[in-house]
Amino acid sequence: MKTESIPTVDQLRVCLSEGRRQGKTVGLVPTMGALHEGHGCLIEQARGECDVLVVSVYVNPLQFGPEEDLASYPRDLASDLLFCEQRGVDVVFAPSNEEIYSDTQHTFVEHGVEGAALCGEHRPGHFRGVATVVLKLFNIVQPNRAYFGEKDIQQLAVLGRMTKDFNLPIDIVEVPTRREPDGLAISSRNQYLNSEERRAAGVLYRALRIARQRIADGNLDPSVATRGALTVLELEPLARVEYLEIVDPGLMQPVDQITGPVRVVGAIRIGNTRLIDNVLCEMPKKVRSRRKK
Ligand code: PAJ
Repeated sequence: MKTESIPTVDQLRVCLSEGRRQGKTVGLVPTMGALHEGHGCLIEQARGECDVLVVSVYVNPLQFGPEEDLASYPRDLASDLLFCEQRGVDVVFAPSNEEIYSDTQHTFVEHGVEGAALCGEHRPGHFRGVATVVLKLFNIVQPNRAYFGEKDIQQLAVLGRMTKDFNLPIDIVEVPTRREPDGLAISSRNQYLNSEERRAAGVLYRALRIARQRIADGNLDPSVATRGALTVLELEPLARVEYLEIVDPGLMQPVDQITGPVRVVGAIRIGNTRLIDNVLCEMPKKVRSRRKK
């Protein structure tokens, strides 16, 4: 079946009403377009689990800071539509700014502690913008399930909490990060990198894995666990570290001591491009068994 491209809320509601009446499950994959294989993983998983699949393509101005890349963010609806068509998406919802923020928006979502540190600290207002637009998309599409990538783990934590706190009847599905062969997480922003910067960009995932290994080796002091990773990042002349932290995987707050599963999260800048990534670390087996005794 052909993918339908829908620009307005009213048309979308009409389009989804019949399926909903028939009790079909609706899946939503929210995106800002410039679709790549990372988005492809979300779409493929959602396609396998939902009767009707909606992908939203909307570059949300509210989540960009004044100095950020809103104007230059890659936009190509025709190729996004083709991408969706090839993966069996039923509907692409691609609204204009006027459609989403018709008048001035007066009400916003104030996110919880999950959005306070890390990107929340370095991009003030970002998660307020993300949570607000996603709540709007949830209300417009009313999906049974919504799919988000582990790559943006803090976004997932903010939105998971919002869904719970506002009693939204939506399952939030976390999809693992899709990577390039050198480990770089696929991202729309990777296309800003020149070839030298692209080579350097692999350092972030390498550093995260070094920290994960140190934790697996039993180093439970975060500053010890991140030491080697920071050295590797500092040795890459094109990379500037924004943060590298070990956080509680639910609250996204840095921990003083590693006493359970944690995430190593990092953000670096290479030239003008900001890259983020993270890995989950289970407790080292030795420590787990010592604690059981
Ligand atoms: P965008 O950056 O387009 O990402 C859309 C979704 O794709 C997010 O859930 C993101 O985590 C996921 N994604 C991106 N790269 C991925 C990769 N390499 N592997 C797995 N998943 C990946 O995130 C946003 O848009 C926006 O903030 C949005 C939620 C749409 C709100 O505006």
